[in-house]
Amino acid sequence: MTYTDRVVLGARLECMAIDLDEARRQTPGCAQRVHLNNAGSGLLTRRTLRTVVAHLEREAEIGGYAAQDAAQAEMDGVYQAVAELLGAASHEIALVDNATRAWNAAFLGLGLRAGDRVLVSRSEYHSNVLSLRQAEERGAKIVTVPDDEHGQFDVAALEDLVDERTRLVAVTHVPSGNGLINPVEEIGRITRAVGVPFLLDATQAVGQIPVDVRRIGCDLLCGTGRKFLRGPRGTRFLWVADGVLDRLAPAQADVRSTRWTPDAGLGWSPGAQRFETFERDIAALLGLGSAVRQALELGIDETSARALRLAERLRAALAEIDGVAVEDRGVRKSAIVAAGHAVVPAEELAAGLRGRGVNLSVTWPPYPGSDSADSVRPLLRFSPHHYNTEQEIDETAAALDGLLRSHPRNEG
Ligand SMILES: Cc1ncc(COP(=O)(O)O)c(C=O)c1O
Repeated sequence: MTYTDRVVLGARLECMAIDLDEARRQTPGCAQRVHLNNAGSGLLTRRTLRTVVAHLEREAEIGGYAAQDAAQAEMDGVYQAVAELLGAASHEIALVDNATRAWNAAFLGLGLRAGDRVLVSRSEYHSNVLSLRQAEERGAKIVTVPDDEHGQFDVAALEDLVDERTRLVAVTHVPSGNGLINPVEEIGRITRAVGVPFLLDATQAVGQIPVDVRRIGCDLLCGTGRKFLRGPRGTRFLWVADGVLDRLAPAQADVRSTRWTPDAGLGWSPGAQRFETFERDIAALLGLGSAVRQALELGIDETSARALRLAERLRAALAEIDGVAVEDRGVRKSAIVAAGHAVVPAEELAAGLRGRGVNLSVTWPPYPGSDSADSVRPLLRFSPHHYNTEQEIDETAAALDGLLRSHPRNEG
């Protein structure tokens, strides 16, 4: 079978597996906008929306604490769903309220000392970079691993840089600002061989591409509900492998993260729960469980194949537009597409597209003090999901082309 045959067969299988009309019917936002901002936050399904609202109504009727008690089995299901998504165990999952907090729970838990080394990718998210800089001010050595000739994390360089003072390797799986997928399984093979913990920021990866923590070989992973998983905002999770739990001391103590018994005294709660807090948005977390369960039911392989294919289609269409350059890097490309025009600023084009009903983002330039590999100028960022249509992709590219053709710089 040739490559083209495989692509055609893959597209047929994907169409058989995903009922696109039904996926769109179950996604109310599809009727309002061309939503190409799943890397910002994905569209909720009706089922997830109902789950969240039902719990809020229960809270209003019987009170928040009683509603939480009544939802205990459902909450257990949220941990199970997230664990299943990652190929992990429920007790290794902590549910928290944002990505930065989840990443920091792991990072600060290491208790870095002066002289400790942390090896990081060039694509770390700005908030992660800020924590890395703070650690540097306290004497830790932050070493940025270069990218290879494809613009992805250089695995051979990691092998050279890792040494006995290295306390952590921190890598972003799919950066937020361009279409790169870092070679995480190769990184995991190295960190396992040398016994250094590997913290993976999978914020943009979960729900977009298959993420299996045992296959990757990472030890810590943070992910979010609101992006490609299509959960409510303010929902986040941290996975902590049993094997590294005892190497971490949570930086923050809380009545949920700790346990007191007359015999043993005060200690950490078992498993990843030690990174959680008592007060949480139960309705939102139930919504996260609903979103993850639906992603699993649809099949991440199938939805991912379709999202990646739509992104490829958009890249090809954008590359045809005069003056537009697609700036995605890496061997494997994600469903995030970053492109810019040679002259017209991205903010201006984004405003024009939003006015035509398209949701998208504009990337940030590299953050002060970061060694981000992202483009130095802001770019248009499009991020389709499986529920987008080919027509939406083509019309978005046509709209951008139209905006540029009618741009005042072409007059006279
Ligand atoms: C790769 C990556 N990491 C971390 C974050 C931060 O997530 P949060 O805003 O939930 O803290 C983002 C947000 O876009 C991201 O793309």
